[in-house]
Amino acid sequence: MFENKCILTGVKPTGKPHIGNYFGAIKPAVELGHQASRFNLFIADYHAINFMKDAEILQREIKEIACIYLAAGLNPKTDYFYRQSDIPEINEITTILYAFTPKGFMNKSHAYKACVEKNLADNKPADDGVNMGLYTYPTLMAADILAMDTDIVPVGKDQIQHVEIARDIAGAVNAYYDRDLLKLPEYVTANNVSVLPGTDGRKMSKSYNNVIPIFEDEKIVKKAVYATITDSKPIEEPKNPEDVFVYQIYKCLATPEQTAEMADGLKNGKLGYGHIKAMLLDVILEQTRDAKAVYDYYMAHYDEVRGFLEDGAARARPYAQRTLQRLKETLFG
Ligand code: ADP
Ligand code: TRP
Repeated sequence: MFENKCILTGVKPTGKPHIGNYFGAIKPAVELGHQASRFNLFIADYHAINFMKDAEILQREIKEIACIYLAAGLNPKTDYFYRQSDIPEINEITTILYAFTPKGFMNKSHAYKACVEKNLADNKPADDGVNMGLYTYPTLMAADILAMDTDIVPVGKDQIQHVEIARDIAGAVNAYYDRDLLKLPEYVTANNVSVLPGTDGRKMSKSYNNVIPIFEDEKIVKKAVYATITDSKPIEEPKNPEDVFVYQIYKCLATPEQTAEMADGLKNGKLGYGHIKAMLLDVILEQTRDAKAVYDYYMAHYDEVRGFLEDGAARARPYAQRTLQRLKETLFG
């Protein structure tokens, strides 16, 4: 489907993902990446230091996210899997791109604007806690993308603007020199992926504290599943499945047959909340069992993962070197 194309995406190491992140973003990104001739997936550690400066925590989160992507099917031999900080050319390219980035682009970037809005709402100075890393974040992100001659960037809605900024900056460089120095990237949003509700019926999200964790021990997953909010209707009272949060989560993960079985049981007063929570737990454990084995293996053998990341950086780096060389030759003669 994306023959002769490069798909690239970056992930920030920011805390343990939940099943919403895993089924809604991580797995679909890997599946999409595998439709392209070249799939780059990197850990955005230079982006992470804007808000996380504790090396120990950062290392832990990098390890975690790396093992999760391997569990989701990333192929460390054929995909380009690397840490951003292992490719220093990205930072040199960033410096070059600054010279073509209107300051106004940064002012209107969502990530920065969201901080300003929050500060103002909290009666703080507009730029309180905003460092230059956060402010100029879209330019580094543009360099991540442009360095690798990326065709397509799969994104959630919040990142569309950043890819547009990368495209605009690349367009400005190309227009200035009247040459195709940088490839113009496009974004795709995975619109066939459902938003998983959390244990309180709202979107599952770290910020709502309503998550079901991924790849934890069964006991911990069970505790989260059984904490899903239900009312006090007795088993025999017929229920509308769409009003039942457990069912709403279940239908995102179960087969159509399993989903129909739960819906019928609820409508006919044959299934109580205890039953359906057990069914939900089963389907989560079933859908994550093989991946969890991979995750557990790599968490226990992280040296192998480090090797993959080094190898990925060594294979990806020549792309960034060539891009940088093209730019420097043009800029400095
Ligand atoms: P959170 O809301 O837990 O903080 P993030 O905003 O960090 O999650 O999202 C990381 C990625 O996971 C994004 O691509 C986002 O679209 C996806 N994602 C987050 N929550 C869900 C969900 N409940 N269902 C599906 N995808 C989700
Ligand atoms: N900004 C992205 C996020 O917050 C992470 C990221 C950094 C990225 N560089 C990228 C994503 C390049 C796609 C392409 O999730």
